[in-house]
Amino acid sequence: MKISIRRFDDYSRRDIFDVLASWDNDPMIKPLILPGIHDDNFDDRVTGDELMYLARENKNRYIYLVFDEEILIGAYTIDIDFRERLTQEADTAWIGIVIGNKDYWGRGLGRYIMFDLEERCRQLGCKRIELGVFDYNLRALRLYESLGYTVIGVVENFVFYEGDWRKDIRMVKTL
Ligand SMILES: CC(C)(COP(=O)(O)OP(=O)(O)OC[C@H]1O[C@@H](n2cnc3c(N)ncnc32)[C@H](O)[C@@H]1OP(=O)(O)O)[C@@H](O)C(=O)NCCC(=O)NCCS
Repeated sequence: MKISIRRFDDYSRRDIFDVLASWDNDPMIKPLILPGIHDDNFDDRVTGDELMYLARENKNRYIYLVFDEEILIGAYTIDIDFRERLTQEADTAWIGIVIGNKDYWGRGLGRYIMFDLEERCRQLGCKRIELGVFDYNLRALRLYESLGYTVIGVVENFVFYEGDWRKDIRMVKTL
């Protein structure tokens, strides 16, 4: 692996947004990252155009892309002043991470990406990170726990998964 992580701010790159959308639509990844999913809308698809529009509109979001050599394999986002967070303090980053290429899961890359993400948050002046993880996403939960994130609350009935409404677990780490 030759991993590099780069800020992405060329929002004319439809090819990149199409790849990001393909991860959002992947049946294995979608239940792990998209809130508000239930049986009625599980087949709704996100398009590259929609993601491009959202990126242009949201001035508080920073996007970073993860490459192995020149192959795009993952991404993370940092949102400043995200309204839905539980932490009331300012200077709190809200983050999301996805390794879209499943061949790279379970090989320690998530940990590597999180170190990079935390450093970027510090550079942006953030004092802490809040994230949300669905209660059945054991791999992600384990990753965050091992990096020192602690649970500060739960949002009940947040996402429908395998026949039940499940929780969004909110975790925080002070940087
Ligand atoms: C979540 C994700 C970023 C984790 O990255 P990763 O590179 O696959 O994870 P790592 O290899 O760093 O492993 C993280 C931990 O989970 C453990 N783990 C691996 N597979 C696991 C599984 N199936 N169940 C439970 N724990 C598992 C690892 O042992 C490791 O724990 P350790 O450090 O105590 O050994 C990545 O799998 C991913 O992008 N998944 C899809 C999207 C997603 O879930 N995003 C997060 C939303 S909150």
